Amino acid sequence: MVEPTSKRIALLLLFALHSCLADNVFLSSQLASQVLTRNRRANQLWEEMKPGNLERECLEEICDHEEAREVFEQNDKTEKFWAKYLDCKGTERLRTQENIKLVRECVEGQCVSGSGVSYEGNVNITESGKRCQRWSSSFPHPIHREYNASEPNSVLKENFCRNPDNRPEGPWCFTTDPTVQKESCRVPRCGEVFVPATVAPEPPAVRTKACLSNHGIDYTGELSVTMGGHTCLQWSSPVAVALSKDKDFIQEMVLDGNKCRNPDGDPEGPWCYVEISGNVTVDYCDLELCEDPLIGEEETTADQGMERTVLGAEKKLFFSPRTFGEGESVCGLRPLYEQKGKQDKTESELLASYREKRIVGGSDAEVASAPWQVMLYKRSPQELLCGASLVSDQWILTAAHCVLYPPWNKNFTVNDILVRLGKHQRAKFERGIEKIVAIDEIIVHPKYNWKENLNRDIALLHMRRPVVFTNEIHPICLPSKEVARTLMSEGFKGRVTGWGNLQESWNPAARNLPSVLQQIHLPIVDQDVCRQSTAVRITSNMFCAGYKPEESQRGDACEGDSGGPFVMKYPAENRWYQIGIVSWGEGCDRDGKYGFYTHLFRMGRWMKKVIERSGDDGDD
Ligand SMILES: *[C@@H]1O[C@H](CO)[C@@H](O)[C@H](O)[C@H]1NC(C)=O
Ligand SMILES: *[C@@H]1O[C@H](CO)[C@@H](O)[C@H](O)[C@H]1NC(C)=O
Ligand SMILES: *[C@@H]1O[C@H](CO)[C@@H](O)[C@H](O)[C@H]1NC(C)=O
Ligand SMILES: *[C@@H]1O[C@H](CO)[C@@H](O)[C@H](O)[C@H]1NC(C)=O
Repeated sequence: MVEPTSKRIALLLLFALHSCLADNVFLSSQLASQVLTRNRRANQLWEEMKPGNLERECLEEICDHEEAREVFEQNDKTEKFWAKYLDCKGTERLRTQENIKLVRECVEGQCVSGSGVSYEGNVNITESGKRCQRWSSSFPHPIHREYNASEPNSVLKENFCRNPDNRPEGPWCFTTDPTVQKESCRVPRCGEVFVPATVAPEPPAVRTKACLSNHGIDYTGELSVTMGGHTCLQWSSPVAVALSKDKDFIQEMVLDGNKCRNPDGDPEGPWCYVEISGNVTVDYCDLELCEDPLIGEEETTADQGMERTVLGAEKKLFFSPRTFGEGESVCGLRPLYEQKGKQDKTESELLASYREKRIVGGSDAEVASAPWQVMLYKRSPQELLCGASLVSDQWILTAAHCVLYPPWNKNFTVNDILVRLGKHQRAKFERGIEKIVAIDEIIVHPKYNWKENLNRDIALLHMRRPVVFTNEIHPICLPSKEVARTLMSEGFKGRVTGWGNLQESWNPAARNLPSVLQQIHLPIVDQDVCRQSTAVRITSNMFCAGYKPEESQRGDACEGDSGGPFVMKYPAENRWYQIGIVSWGEGCDRDGKYGFYTHLFRMGRWMKKVIERSGDDGDD
């Protein structure tokens, strides 16, 4: 009785030891024992049957399907095992001591012999060095359309390479590169030397040319072709002259020929007018600009901004009402709050954060407290797509990825989308209060970078007819330089609103949507801390906000909140300004992860140019 058991233990020990020694060259012994422990815990197959029998019948000996069935006593478990067993060459390998070990390790998932359907290791880098996307995540690739990682006993763990569709090339994963959906991984092959793949160095961070400082205002080069491949129009051509009229161009700038220039100090750099199928618009030129972060660029002029509290102060208009529409002069003054001399219940927390740090949770928004909030709605099938914001009676702002994201096959046209304004309830039609409006133009930033990091995640939508402002429908202000400088300081809080759920992930299947508009207050985070929190390349067109893991309050904007506004109240004017657009996050509310936002101030010049040229299409 005692004898066979102890013999078996000795044999197991020998295997363990043997595998330790053999793997030692490539794995530290500590790592190897972790692998073993993990496998012992993870491998449910092993625990739920009679280990002695399996060991004897199928590992030490070659078993047939019928014998395997006797071991497992259940059909589905037998089939699962049998697939692995065949793939591990369990019926082929002669049972030398070495081969017993190989079959065992393979069935346990540590290494592969065939296509690797049994692989359960933790390689998470692809053959070419790309990082794998988590199976439970839908960003950048919509994994949920093909696999459900939350099914019980799923082998799709973390971001580990697996072979759920039995590909002959072996285990693979979805990659975190938006342009590469799936790629094979190099995983240990049983009995062979394993050299793990390593993460490839960042894509060409190498600068081919010196960067232009000062947004390229001083650029006097010869380039006259835009990023979109269009030839620039002469600055002296009648249409260019007409479009440039009354613009605050730098007086001294020489606009020679049709060269790329930056006469309006656009942070996006040199640009020019181009003609695209009969319509004149602007496009940027492909010149390397030096990064120059706005936050922390110079000492905040907070005091200057705080001192004067002039109620209803006259606002200097940035946009021309002819093309922008009405609303800029009254923006950010909510009919039921500022215009009545009232505060909402939680705004004092924002103002307090400009002086001291304090943490308060997210909750239902008060009715009409975010009258600029817009719902981006798919026509058919009807579905909430994203948040957005009203900036005038004609224009709506959202995230570019809400309308264009090729990894998801998303490329909406004006006919696919409706906007709903004045809403508070998510699912109810709010008769007499909400307005549903069609759009006739979608303008995505020409330098929006979906291929890498969602840089410049911004789009403008033009409504087919102007909307009438009401208590529930009212525009938000766009930040001037002074406002951005004053408010965009580490620790200062903004308010994010949306109908997406504030806790769940990018997985639409797992959504648990709220019934009314939600709001949360989140502090702006130092750009270096943002950079360190993620492997994604962060640019100065983004900022991040949220709580550090150690801070007890949690919260983050999530998928359905994308495109929605990050707003702050500017004390000097007692008005609300939109500072950011909800852009992306790596799994909402994961420890140490912050939400990322499009830096709206930096997009101001682009918005002004595309809005002002739109008036010349001769519509209204
Ligand atoms: C791979 O997984 C390990 C945990 O097994 C984790 O520590 C590491 O960060 C992951 N690497 C990547 C590139 O995701
Ligand atoms: C995925 O599996 C879980 C658990 O079985 C289930 O609750 C969920 O609805 C599934 N999701 C989809 C999209 O099928
Ligand atoms: C010019 O723009 C208008 C509206 O923006 C559009 O309807 C029209 O098709 C465009 N013209 C051409 C030739 O593409
Ligand atoms: C999106 O669709 C338009 C046509 O509707 C097409 O011209 C454009 O190239 C598409 N963009 C991408 C990135 O696929």
